[in-house]
Amino acid sequence: MNDIGLIGLGVMGENLALNIGRNNYSLSVLNRTIEKTKMFMEQKVRDENIMPFYDIKSFVESLERPRKIILMVKSGEPVDNLIHELLPYLENGDLIIDGGNSYFKDTDRRIEELKASNVLYLGLGISGGEYGALNGPSLMPGGLLETYKLVEDILLNIAAKVDSKPCCTYVGDDGAGHFVKMIHNGIEYGIMLGISEAYNIMRKGLMLSSKEIGDTFKKWNDGELGSYLMEISYKIMYHEDENNNRPLVDFILDKAEQKGTGKWTSITALELGIPAPSLTAAVDGRLISHFKEERIKLSNVFEKKKVNLSLDKEKTIYDLEKSLLFNQFILFSQGIWLINEASNVYNYNIDSAEVLRIWKGGCIIRAKMINFLIEIINEDRENINFLNNKKSVDFLLGKFNSTKHISNIAKDLYIPALIHNTSMDYFLGLIEENSAANLMQAQRDYFGAHTYERVDSEGIFHTEWE
Ligand code: 6PG
Repeated sequence: MNDIGLIGLGVMGENLALNIGRNNYSLSVLNRTIEKTKMFMEQKVRDENIMPFYDIKSFVESLERPRKIILMVKSGEPVDNLIHELLPYLENGDLIIDGGNSYFKDTDRRIEELKASNVLYLGLGISGGEYGALNGPSLMPGGLLETYKLVEDILLNIAAKVDSKPCCTYVGDDGAGHFVKMIHNGIEYGIMLGISEAYNIMRKGLMLSSKEIGDTFKKWNDGELGSYLMEISYKIMYHEDENNNRPLVDFILDKAEQKGTGKWTSITALELGIPAPSLTAAVDGRLISHFKEERIKLSNVFEKKKVNLSLDKEKTIYDLEKSLLFNQFILFSQGIWLINEASNVYNYNIDSAEVLRIWKGGCIIRAKMINFLIEIINEDRENINFLNNKKSVDFLLGKFNSTKHISNIAKDLYIPALIHNTSMDYFLGLIEENSAANLMQAQRDYFGAHTYERVDSEGIFHTEWE
């Protein structure tokens, strides 16, 4: 009898299977296509105790009870179909673990639906890509605590370790694990766009070569801006195309794809009524990039007006670094606010400092800044919006002028700095005592008698404006 089963031998699935095997657990594996399973067994499996299966019944029967089955398949319908196929063979107390990027509301629903069959369900956010899956990902499990306890030992062992602590924690009830993974991805999109905007300014404003940009990213990575995404960015800059020994990045089509998790983050922010404009800008940045043909057609509109900027290279690079710190901080703060709000609204009971701790290793958004963020959360555990903190405001104020400078340079170059601009406006919005929303309230009342409140007396008011 094997300790655990895994279905779905795509890139993440096969690496996670090997990771589990290398941690001395015996594993049954199954894949929709038999050839894939055979290839995996022949080419990847060495000394690990991994057994292949080619039908659901014998796969399930090979597992120790209560059975634990990890699904590593595409989110959405494939997960529901697989649960449906597994159910006839499962018994009371067996456990399904969904390790894909599932929508948290689907996880909420599946946990509820499976109660009727007495089958347990865990929504497991996994981050770290191919390398992380094999060598230690960041793991975000959500569901019943008792369910988590059944696989805690395995999850803690296969997770990445930072200061000898596993980057895995019980995140919270129901779909909390997938919720947190979704927010992770929203932040991931934002950090990626921020770095890409800095790259754009360096190549178009400072006329730096990819090698020079790589050197800058590398230097930043050694400092306060150190992060996994910064590290891979400098490595990408150094990477040459094998056909012509020129930077490969120059030959990659500038249309960013996405699988949907960033979009879900924005939708969720709107549903929860929590502002997260930078997280949304990150999705918009990808969407805009997609309209390549339109962009080509419109690309000459400013041609005659283009100015020749004589930028101070050192100062611009200094400001870019500060602006990226500003932006990264805002992205995390919007993500954490969403996690805290969801924790209350959906009763997930998430400890956001713990979430940040498990994001310190293994995952795509691991960054040096996280230690500082945890410090801020721990100053006031009741505060759900951590911009509401002196250290946060001081940090942002210290970088504000640099961010403004970068935003102005981008405008002079007629290139977008969507996420930088958005993060700055978000900050300005949150520190503005008297906003212009009084006029919007008046407009609402004018055309729709929607009423308004006054600053000088209590109550609800309406005016006959005509
Ligand atoms: C991770 C990543 C991963 C994600 C990809 C692709 O944490 O390992 O977040 O789970 O699916 O990065 O996402 P997009 O295709 O939406 O860019």
